[in-house]
Amino acid sequence: MSMHTDKRAAIGVFDSGIGGLTVARAVHKLLPREHIVYFGDLLHLPYGSKSETAVVQFSLAACRFLCSQNIKLLVVACNTAASLAMKRIVSEVDVPVIGVVGPGAKTACAATRNNRVGVIGTSRTIESGSYRSAIAGINPLIMVFEKPTPLLVPMIEEGWIGHPVLRLVLQEYLGGFITSDIDTIVLGCTHYPLIRREIEEVLDGTKTVQVVDSADSTALKTKRLLEENDLQRPPGKVDTLKVWLTDSTPGFRVVAERIMGKESIDVSLVDSGYCSEGLRYSASDRSPRHE
Ligand code: DGL
Repeated sequence: MSMHTDKRAAIGVFDSGIGGLTVARAVHKLLPREHIVYFGDLLHLPYGSKSETAVVQFSLAACRFLCSQNIKLLVVACNTAASLAMKRIVSEVDVPVIGVVGPGAKTACAATRNNRVGVIGTSRTIESGSYRSAIAGINPLIMVFEKPTPLLVPMIEEGWIGHPVLRLVLQEYLGGFITSDIDTIVLGCTHYPLIRREIEEVLDGTKTVQVVDSADSTALKTKRLLEENDLQRPPGKVDTLKVWLTDSTPGFRVVAERIMGKESIDVSLVDSGYCSEGLRYSASDRSPRHE
């Protein structure tokens, strides 16, 4: 990997949709001087129910595009992509790459007191066993209880946060954790922090379970990596958050502004096409039609 040395370059953050903005927000909070370029693959969302081949192909195309946007570091802010495509991404891009699974697993291991940890995520993330092995690598004594929760991402993208149907779905999904006696649950999908309150309410029906996600620990890892490589952006004007999307949805800006606060967000669409390497994106001057 050839090290990027442009300190003014951006931090690239990638997710299949809006969930990765929860990680972008944590990075922005910790590193307010840094410019962030975000890629949301709304066209192919949800990744969590697609085949591994498809997730790898979409992830590589997204990461290659971000690398064409002068980034010095890449955050794979999608647990599904980090679970299935991390090795391929690391081998193909020429900037340091941070995934969200390792930081999330580390946070959970530090949080549990009774060594019983629950993990929820998309079907592909849970099937991949990425959290199970990351947690075992840190503390093999921890018992991991996993549950795929595939209906949550579509509901969040639809803006059904606080909706009574969401509560029923959560009761169904999280009911099994009550008998597992977990004291910590990992939100193994970057969309889930958006419904953290609802998750806590459903779990608190029985006992207090600590709810952890990977946003803050991923941001900390990002900070450390920039420091280690002497890549911190020098003081100066802070750019707006640049967002590239593969498609637009009516709710994107509303939810994005809710996540990122009053930051001004500059949203553009990419064009997609195929070349000998497969799927390829290029910058377009088309604005999302829902703006
Ligand atoms: N936010 C993504 C994750 O962390 C996935 C959502 C999806 O595309 O299924 O897994």
